[in-house]
Amino acid sequence: MTTPVPEPTQARKPNTNADPGHPQGTALTTSQGAVLRDTDHSLKAGPRGPVLLQDHHLREKITHFDHERIPERVVHARGAGAHGTFTSYGTGSRICSAAFLAEGVKTPLFVRFSTVAGSRGSADAVRDTRGFATKFYTEEGVFDLVGNNMPVFFIQDAIKFPDVVHSVKPHPDLEIPQAQSAHDTFWDFVSLHTQAQAHAMWVMSDRGIPRSFRMMEGFGVHTFRMIAADGQSSLVKFHWKPKLGVHSLVWEEAMLANGADPDFHRRDLSDAIKAGAFPEWELGLQVFEDNEGQSFDGIDLLDPTKFVPEELVPIQMVGKMVLDRNPSNYFAETEQVAFHPGHLVPGIDVTNDPLLQGRLFSYIDTQITRLGGPNFSQLPINLPHAPVNDMLRDGMHQTYIHEGIAPYHPNSLDGGCPYQAGEGDNSKMPFIDFPELVAESVKGRSNPVSFDDHFSQARMFYRSLQAHERRHVQQAYSFELGKCASEVIRARQLQALANIDVQLCAAVARELGLPVPGADTEVVDREPCPSVSQALGSWPVDGRILGIVASHHTEASVIETLVAAANHAGFQPLLLSSVGGSLADGSPVDRTLLTARSIEFDALLIADFLVPVAGAKVDSDTKAGAVRPPGAIGFDPRLVLLLQETYRQSKAIVAVDQPESFFQDLGLEGTGPGLVHASVPDAVPGAVALLATHRVWERFDESGPVPKDSARA
Ligand code: HEM
Repeated sequence: MTTPVPEPTQARKPNTNADPGHPQGTALTTSQGAVLRDTDHSLKAGPRGPVLLQDHHLREKITHFDHERIPERVVHARGAGAHGTFTSYGTGSRICSAAFLAEGVKTPLFVRFSTVAGSRGSADAVRDTRGFATKFYTEEGVFDLVGNNMPVFFIQDAIKFPDVVHSVKPHPDLEIPQAQSAHDTFWDFVSLHTQAQAHAMWVMSDRGIPRSFRMMEGFGVHTFRMIAADGQSSLVKFHWKPKLGVHSLVWEEAMLANGADPDFHRRDLSDAIKAGAFPEWELGLQVFEDNEGQSFDGIDLLDPTKFVPEELVPIQMVGKMVLDRNPSNYFAETEQVAFHPGHLVPGIDVTNDPLLQGRLFSYIDTQITRLGGPNFSQLPINLPHAPVNDMLRDGMHQTYIHEGIAPYHPNSLDGGCPYQAGEGDNSKMPFIDFPELVAESVKGRSNPVSFDDHFSQARMFYRSLQAHERRHVQQAYSFELGKCASEVIRARQLQALANIDVQLCAAVARELGLPVPGADTEVVDREPCPSVSQALGSWPVDGRILGIVASHHTEASVIETLVAAANHAGFQPLLLSSVGGSLADGSPVDRTLLTARSIEFDALLIADFLVPVAGAKVDSDTKAGAVRPPGAIGFDPRLVLLLQETYRQSKAIVAVDQPESFFQDLGLEGTGPGLVHASVPDAVPGAVALLATHRVWERFDESGPVPKDSARA
């Protein structure tokens, strides 16, 4: 007998008090629906008490509150989610029978982005890998693509996952540092277990501090298998390509953001969706022949510490994802969503990657604890949109009222239902476990020899970066190792760097004041793959934040023109002035000099300079460092601070109809790259041109030639 399938509604059913504006009704009730008169006072024997045990409302309210928290995820605890739709181009159906990859099919989905190491309340802009997990509610069941923003992982075998996670989590004695890899235990593990070096290199690069979730690539990491309608198998790697390009914060911004706006990435995502600047990615596949060795050009496709450069195997796009709706309840959706790499649909299967194989066990297991029992797939956010007719029964928090008496197969008492594919009237496409040949072998705890290469891809990645990106990598290693107390650990990691790149090792050793070791391992040189650099190309400015600095005396027509042009160009403009209120055109001030910080803006237009106002007094200013440089007499010191930070962060500043000496007066280099004078009509186009490459990297001559000793021979 078929199990009734609950509606995939997101909200609790309206009660009888409901009106359209208040789906839960307007009257306050108990959890049993009895209307309440007073929730402000406990039931007492007289106004001075004591409180009576019979107060069922008090007990229900406090008891429920006492149990509001559930365990946070053991990893990826900090995250943000959004709803959207995937539209298939149909190109994937050549190699995959999954219905959601057929041409024009639209599939609703939910995405959760996350950091790995930090607790649920930790800051967003920490240096870390980001999770990128997508739940496709397809007509054939849920497909979860549970990936990261980096294509390689720390370990090759799931049995090492507890080890790497214990090493990056805070030290167990004092539980510090929070959400950081810059500490002894992490580098102790990574320097000993050198298969982690390639992923560590990605984390030390700018990829470890993304500008926005909207500007991250996503990777399925493992090699998966796709099966075509005719049974033909291909090996594939999944890629998400962001429309806005891949961009990062600079380290100063990341550190400021963690203090000034710990919700930096979460806010950026929801603000963009609210503003209608819907984040977009294309889903792409690298497709490999399913050959016996399951390798490509010497890269073992079952080794999750390796990736295949796009230069060798181009990515074929199969569809587009648009995120267009914020969650309406963080807990119900973003916190309770449960991803699992084993949520697969017909046409997609796993490979023997030993990391993936362990993951297939781990996710359900952890979710039974996290979500309080085995029925979490019935939660609205996890509920498949395809009909569910399993024979799973009972358990904590069972919400289905199953019918029938024979939840077993085969049966005759329920008429043989549920039917397997091909039985009764069930002609649906079943999930296929691909009949892969398993080579004759000997049981044991070992890896293929190809897994022993721990350095060649770290070197390839580093040497594919632009000069300024390499300097950021050098600084990141120097910072992280500089935070390690143990000199033994620092020296051991320097040894790993010596095997990766001599010049990188020397630069870090110089910062640490330690000798430069020689390489102790022979490492294969691979062709660089410039596609891993974030610096090449130019990108749309959709949804980027343009700060427009105006005073309460700035002409209404100037503000109107700049805001209209910014909106037209696709920016999210934010008006910034000395204090709050409205500007001459009636627009509300979005940020004041007290609430604004450089991190929030991708570029600045200065429509008016701001003279010091009452709150600008340096002595009482709440912004450390808001000092006025010599010469900048007429400016509010907080404006000076804002512009100096923006300048240091290599972002564009456009002075609109300001005197030639404007930048010098602020203590900046008068005519450096990215410091532009423009008329009102030219100001926004000027910002678009500068922001298309994300930053003005040439400002500090960082795009200079690649240091010789690090270049490929
Ligand atoms: C390529 C390697 C891996 C990737 C890309 C990856 C990715 C992710 C992502 C994106 C999440 C967050 C899901 C969410 O937003 O709810 C997550 C959570 C998790 N991962 Fe992984 N992971 C990897 C390896 C592993 C391994 C090897 C294990 C264990 C053997 C593991 C265990 C977990 C657990 C227990 C959670 C928490 C799940 C929950 O509480 O809902 N992961 N992982």
